[in-house]
Amino acid sequence: MTNPTITIDGPTASGKGTVAQLVAKALGFHYLDSGALYRLTALSALRHQLALDDEAAIAQLALNLPCRFVGEQIFLEQEEVGNIIRAEEIGNAASKIAVLPAVRAALLQLQKNFSAPPGLVADGRDMGTVIFPDAEVKIYLTASVAARAERRFKQLISKGFSANIQDLLQDLTERDARDLNRSTAPLKPAEGAFMLDTSDLTIQQAVELVLKQYEQYVQDANN
Ligand code: CDP
Ligand code: CDP
Repeated sequence: MTNPTITIDGPTASGKGTVAQLVAKALGFHYLDSGALYRLTALSALRHQLALDDEAAIAQLALNLPCRFVGEQIFLEQEEVGNIIRAEEIGNAASKIAVLPAVRAALLQLQKNFSAPPGLVADGRDMGTVIFPDAEVKIYLTASVAARAERRFKQLISKGFSANIQDLLQDLTERDARDLNRSTAPLKPAEGAFMLDTSDLTIQQAVELVLKQYEQYVQDANN
């Protein structure tokens, strides 16, 4: 067990990022926010004024994405864009370019490169199904659409964005549909994934349940 991986997949605003970061911190593992890579690619595409269905040009951008993750900061070229990429507009653009197979292929190796000792927690849509199919622990995080819209609303307001629950409900529903129905790497639970509905759980409760899954894996591996 040299380099264990925990994957956390699920729909938008289910709490993946928050839970994954806390689990990574608790275990001292690296953390991959794969959604950020799609958001960075979308931001870059918008800045290059590319049409969001220009698969070849966006894949080329993704292949040479000039991004760096430094602690909690995210850089595109020399600019810190950690907050900019959280805008709903960028999330929606990310979900549009994420349906393009060549873009997904272009981001594959970059994502795999995050795997390093002592271990990795990776969150996204296809971490357990496509990027890290051999992950030791796979989690599928869900929550009701209402809970997710409410969470995203509070999150956007706290980051200084304006937001409206009705628009968010519509955005979430459209994004869920795109993620679930695309032909390449659709959102679905990985085989054997632990299903965790966080609608009525606190962040801490969700983190503890994920850590329990990992402890169980370690115990089983040692027996
Ligand atoms: O924060 P939220 O869950 O809304 O989105 P995100 O995880 O930051 O990802 C932004 C978009 O990128 C999602 O709506 C997905 O369409 C796409 N994505 C993906 O297709 N595959 C991943 N592994 C991660 C994100
Ligand atoms: O990464 P993903 O889009 O799945 O969700 P997130 O950005 O981690 O979480 C969305 C918001 O929900 C954050 O502001 C979290 O603090 C909040 N959250 C919550 O209130 N309860 C949970 N059990 C999990 C997340």
